[in-house]
Amino acid sequence: MRPTLLLLPFLVACGSLGTDPDAAAAREVNVYSHRHYDTDAQLFEAFTAATGIRVNLVMADDDEVLTRMEQEGANSPCDLLITSDAGRLGQARMRGLLQPIKSAELESNIPAFLRDPEGHWFGLTMRARVFVYNKNKVRPEQLDDYKDLTRPEWKGRVLVRSSENLYNQSLLAAMVAHYGSEAALAWAEGITANMARTPKGSDTDQLLAVAEGIGDVAIANSYYVGKLMSGTEPEKAKARETLAVAFPRMGPFGTHVNVSGAGVARSAKHLPEAIALLEFLVSEEAQRLFAEGNKEYPVRPGSLAEVLQRFGTLDPDTLDLAQLGLNNATAVKLFDRAGWR
Ligand SMILES: [Fe+2]
Repeated sequence: MRPTLLLLPFLVACGSLGTDPDAAAAREVNVYSHRHYDTDAQLFEAFTAATGIRVNLVMADDDEVLTRMEQEGANSPCDLLITSDAGRLGQARMRGLLQPIKSAELESNIPAFLRDPEGHWFGLTMRARVFVYNKNKVRPEQLDDYKDLTRPEWKGRVLVRSSENLYNQSLLAAMVAHYGSEAALAWAEGITANMARTPKGSDTDQLLAVAEGIGDVAIANSYYVGKLMSGTEPEKAKARETLAVAFPRMGPFGTHVNVSGAGVARSAKHLPEAIALLEFLVSEEAQRLFAEGNKEYPVRPGSLAEVLQRFGTLDPDTLDLAQLGLNNATAVKLFDRAGWR
């Protein structure tokens, strides 16, 4: 019920998606996206200006976009799927919705761990899952490792959103990959025991709750922190004064990162155009827009937003992100066993 209601307005707003043979003369590409940032509109305009290829966009929430592709099957007008989280991109691959692409351009510009080994999807930007703490109550040395927050000294002080959230599932999936299920379960239990409240709200809500003193440290994605810290809203001024970022490590590995990424649909009727758009999205111009507009880490070096530079240096865990999709089901079960709502 809900997917239809949410998608229809966008379909109407976007007009009909081009699948008829007459449209071949006017080059176009149909994009299904669950990203909802202003930056993306700018990116598509720049692509059209550079190539003359029109972008038809359908936006949807989270997994609805996958469900829609599944229901449409081979007749789906979707050429390119853009979504966040490698776990979701992995699910799209496992559900047979994507096709493998070979592209020297993509392979040379995107580090191997940030794309599917067979080219079903490609990471376009990185986001790190970081700790955000109250500068007045916490010293950064206390926050070296994700495991640090499971210590008894953090009882009642940790803020994090629900385990239904894919960012948390992917964080735990990475722990399953590195440490195995038992250690990952112990971490989830330790965090659950230390929560300042029953999980609710978004990543940004956790940041604001730290500023309000509901807890002392939050787990959140870096771009939410970047947006908050570079913003100008008066009601968030206290948060900007109070908060600081720490990059926890996962044992000997770096900080957990995830991607926003894209894959060419199995049903693609505009294959060259879909590949052209994908390649454009890792161009220097597009990567700069992602970085500046949405405070994400570019997958190709350079053009880091000023606010992210202030946070310090990100040393990403280079775990093959395909592992996040493969271990997602295990992560969901472990959260359940840990009692993390
Ligand atoms: Fe997000």
